[in-house]
Amino acid sequence: MTTTAFVLMAASIVVHGHRGARGVLPENTIPAFEHAIDAGANYLELDLAVTRDNVLVVSHDAVLPESICTGGAGTRVIREMTLAQLKQWDCGSRANPAFPRQKTVPGTRVPTFDEVLALADRGSFGFNIETKISAKRPELTPSPDEFARLIYDAVHKRGLENRVLVQSFDFRTLHAMKRIAPAIRLNALIGREDTRDWAVVAQESGAGCIAPEYVLVTPERVRKAHAIGLTVVPWTVNDAAEWDRLIAAGVDGIITDDPAALLAHLHSAPPSRAAPPQRP
Ligand code: G3P
Repeated sequence: MTTTAFVLMAASIVVHGHRGARGVLPENTIPAFEHAIDAGANYLELDLAVTRDNVLVVSHDAVLPESICTGGAGTRVIREMTLAQLKQWDCGSRANPAFPRQKTVPGTRVPTFDEVLALADRGSFGFNIETKISAKRPELTPSPDEFARLIYDAVHKRGLENRVLVQSFDFRTLHAMKRIAPAIRLNALIGREDTRDWAVVAQESGAGCIAPEYVLVTPERVRKAHAIGLTVVPWTVNDAAEWDRLIAAGVDGIITDDPAALLAHLHSAPPSRAAPPQRP
């Protein structure tokens, strides 16, 4: 591949800010999403849970982690608390030790999904919405149909159908969303243990995009996915060498904890850029 071809591919990469910008600010919080918007991320990636009073809220974990959230009282299980109870927790005071550059924002609360959707006026970015749901723990969420309905109603209320995509490891919510609103774009998440052919994953999920853990990406897999009309958006990559490997493999987008850094990397022009890697 020529340097020119590589630079053109880099320029077309769609950047998803994972949990907003977890590398630099508390995950899934308004400050993290605002940072991603200001950086120019194409998508805000966020995770959803549902409170006892059926409010969609933005949290990766159905049980508030002790390592991140402090100050509230009683249960940490989001599905067992009202929104008012959830809002007592401070999820911005403790820096995540896995991200040394992460700044704290004391007093930051878990946002509602609607509070995050309200940021839409600040730009033309999209929302990559992950349903956190598992058939093994049905008590932690509504049913897949109810979950999808809550999401659709919230998105529809703000007229954002064209700016959202829904992703999940649990394809039941993807099927449910397709029944409710067939035009909403869907991403099938798969982890490194899932070695199925991506055509099979697409068929089983009904998704038009495969979102694999990054180690699964090879040029051959991406080529085959593109040949049947799928896009490929791997997660979650924070390393420049790995970004370059994925770009050279032909992926369509990248999910990263540091969207500002990825955007700076994509926009840096030769000769300051590292030489493109050879195809494996
Ligand atoms: O965006 C995909 C990625 O979020 C999947 O991993 O653990 O962050 O949900 P996780």
